[in-house]
Amino acid sequence: MLAELSSALIVEVERAAELLKAKQRICLLTGAGISAESGIPTFRDKQTGLWENYRAEDLATPDAFARDPKLVWSWYQWRRQLVASKKPNPAHTALAQWQYHSQSTNQQLTLITQNVDDLHEQAGSTVTHLHGNLWRNRCSRCETPYQNQNSSKSAYDSEDSIDFDEALITCQHCDGYIRPDIVWFGESLPAQAWQIAEDAAADCEVFISIGTSSLVYPAAGLAQSAKHNGAKIIEINPYPTPNTLVDITLAAKAGVILPALIKTMGIL
Ligand code: OAD
Repeated sequence: MLAELSSALIVEVERAAELLKAKQRICLLTGAGISAESGIPTFRDKQTGLWENYRAEDLATPDAFARDPKLVWSWYQWRRQLVASKKPNPAHTALAQWQYHSQSTNQQLTLITQNVDDLHEQAGSTVTHLHGNLWRNRCSRCETPYQNQNSSKSAYDSEDSIDFDEALITCQHCDGYIRPDIVWFGESLPAQAWQIAEDAAADCEVFISIGTSSLVYPAAGLAQSAKHNGAKIIEINPYPTPNTLVDITLAAKAGVILPALIKTMGIL
């Protein structure tokens, strides 16, 4: 596992492991990059196929849904089909193993994700979702949750299961259009999830940013809050980000770094 890493990176993994072994309160924030090795494209990746002429940032907005609800609904139907069969990768598994291990030590791990997939849960983690859940729907007008058997995850797991021309679903209470229960650009984060994230970031001794471009606020501000309160910042990302607060940069794929990190910490 460590053999896959350069000697410079091994030194950084060892530094990170030493720091983490000595600290109790750890806050971890994951983004689309942690699911990339499971085959789910990140938000900054160019879209393919039917959607190659659209940017994710232009579809994941309340304005886009108000203008063309069918287009946005179809895009999410496509994303659901893309994600339905995907499985956790070694990065998700390593975090779940670390969380499990922490039950028998003094360490307190708070895992926060910006992702709307359920790969952390599939791996066995307890996680707080800041940006909602791909497998839930709600009314765009009265907010009532909406669930029927065609909108459950299993309805999406075969390639031709979705008819992109199917009509929009309307709410049985107010006739509003049903939308995914996801936080779009410009919308507020779920209050309870945000409180958990804010508290964990402000209180942690180490903040680990994994697979996120650190571009989208307020989530990107959690590292600032942690640093402000004296935490050390570790970043796991093969590419540079605008996050200038980082103390230890682990510049490789999360699916390589996280198993190596927990092994070096003596967890595996
Ligand atoms: P982005 O798509 O902005 O960034 C993904 C990051 O993952 C990039 O910095 C990549 O370099 C990095 N990356 C790629 N492969 C990786 C790997 N194997 N291991 C580790 N890192 C890797 O995704 P987010 O930062 O999650 O919000 O985006 C934040 C939010 O913006 C999303 O939750 C979504 C979005 O548009 C909403 O939809 C509200």
